[in-house]
Amino acid sequence: MKEIAVLASGRGSNFQALIDAARAGYFPGAIARLITDNPDAYAIRRAKDAGIPVSVLDFSSFPGRMAYEAALLGEMEACDPDLFVLAGYMRILPSAIVRAFPGRILNIHPALLPSFPGLHAQRQAVEYGVKVSGCTVHFVDEGTDTGPIILQRCVPVEEGDDEETLAARILVEEHRVLAEAVRLFCEGRIRLVGRRVEVR
Ligand code: GRF
Repeated sequence: MKEIAVLASGRGSNFQALIDAARAGYFPGAIARLITDNPDAYAIRRAKDAGIPVSVLDFSSFPGRMAYEAALLGEMEACDPDLFVLAGYMRILPSAIVRAFPGRILNIHPALLPSFPGLHAQRQAVEYGVKVSGCTVHFVDEGTDTGPIILQRCVPVEEGDDEETLAARILVEEHRVLAEAVRLFCEGRIRLVGRRVEVR
């Protein structure tokens, strides 16, 4: 059984998808902890309902970003799971944290990377006028949404879509593909070859 810690900042529907998948035995892993930067995150409620311990590092209670990041690194080292999953964690991880856990941090992004990295990916896709978008699970590296890609899923962009309707369509796929990527990781089926990911 692999140990997984999830970082989330808000609603936590991807976190919930992992809770449900773990409970259903979909992957050989257990969610050991939720770490959040937001004391009002609905994800906290989901963790409590599932009996998962929560670490709240309230970003606004720190004197600055560096102090917050130092505390986060300490928390992540103390927790030291096999895998960290960023599931709607809305901050960039500093290099020191990325380097501390090589090949052990996954992120879910609501676009087909390398298109539309960063914030508001679904809005970027609608405004650009692409006909297909989707979601990407990737390893976290020191860039923003630039790490090696593990899995991607497509959805159509329909006539009349706005940010919300497209986001809702993508979210359904996010929940599936994130659980699938965690499964591959927990089963030891992912190999990093340079910046490419091989799945066995
Ligand atoms: C998801 O679209 C995720 O890809 C993005 O933020 C959203 C978080 O949703 N980075 P939730 O908190 O998992 O419901």
